[in-house]
Amino acid sequence: MNCIIKTKSEIEKIKTAGKIAAEVLEMIEKYIKPNISTEEINNICHDFIIKKNAVSACLGYHGFPKSICISVNDVVCHGIPNKNQILKSGDIVNVDVTVLKKKYYADTSKMFLVGKTNFLSQRLCKIAQESLYECFNILKPGLPLYEIGTTIQNYVEKHNFSVVREYCGHGIGRSFHEEPHVLHYKNKSNIFLKKGMIFTIEPMINAGHHEVKCMNDGWTVKTKDHSLSAQYEHTILITKNGCDILTWQKNEKIPSNFINK
Ligand code: MF3
Ligand code: CO
Ligand code: CO
Repeated sequence: MNCIIKTKSEIEKIKTAGKIAAEVLEMIEKYIKPNISTEEINNICHDFIIKKNAVSACLGYHGFPKSICISVNDVVCHGIPNKNQILKSGDIVNVDVTVLKKKYYADTSKMFLVGKTNFLSQRLCKIAQESLYECFNILKPGLPLYEIGTTIQNYVEKHNFSVVREYCGHGIGRSFHEEPHVLHYKNKSNIFLKKGMIFTIEPMINAGHHEVKCMNDGWTVKTKDHSLSAQYEHTILITKNGCDILTWQKNEKIPSNFINK
């Protein structure tokens, strides 16, 4: 398996892209309110990225028609922003941003809770985020890549939710998607982490069954049973002793019980 080890100067460029991607998620928070359309959110993010002299990597990627993915409620991923899709109180919304800057990519996403949401929605988003945070405690050189999948699946199923199988995290850098494939469920990968690897972890967690279905637009993926779905994504560098999150947002708090180091 050809996992790319990044050089110092590549890491700097991916960090720059990661910072912009994180800033997009920080910036967009105040706009995610009832009555805004997902297309307006897309356009605000697009303009922000352009102002940073960067590019929205999703626009035109395999023909994707918009600059970011916005996935609402039972949409698992790859939701296409649309002027007729208006957010309402109670919605849970994933915004997934991939920035290309100076030929290097970074990729991140998070959930936004619109207005007044119910307990199930809040718990689903919290568990999805915590399943990603759980991995930060174990990542370091030498760790078998499959431990990421074990950690996420165990954490999610302990809370009676399910892990989507069809989509995985990915190496990232000079390409949007590169080796390795980072599975979020139990698997038998024979890859071991090495210092200088950069990849995403992006678990998609369903409130009901893990099965998904792609819609006729060729992009929008929904849960088969119409249950809610939540996803969080970060771009992560493996360092000498652990990891560095390259898409960390300023407003991101890590629950104290997730810091083992
Ligand atoms: N950002 C997604 C990921 O996490 C990929 C979106 S591809 C698109 O890998 F074409 F749908 F934008
Ligand atoms: Co990704
Ligand atoms: Co993404």
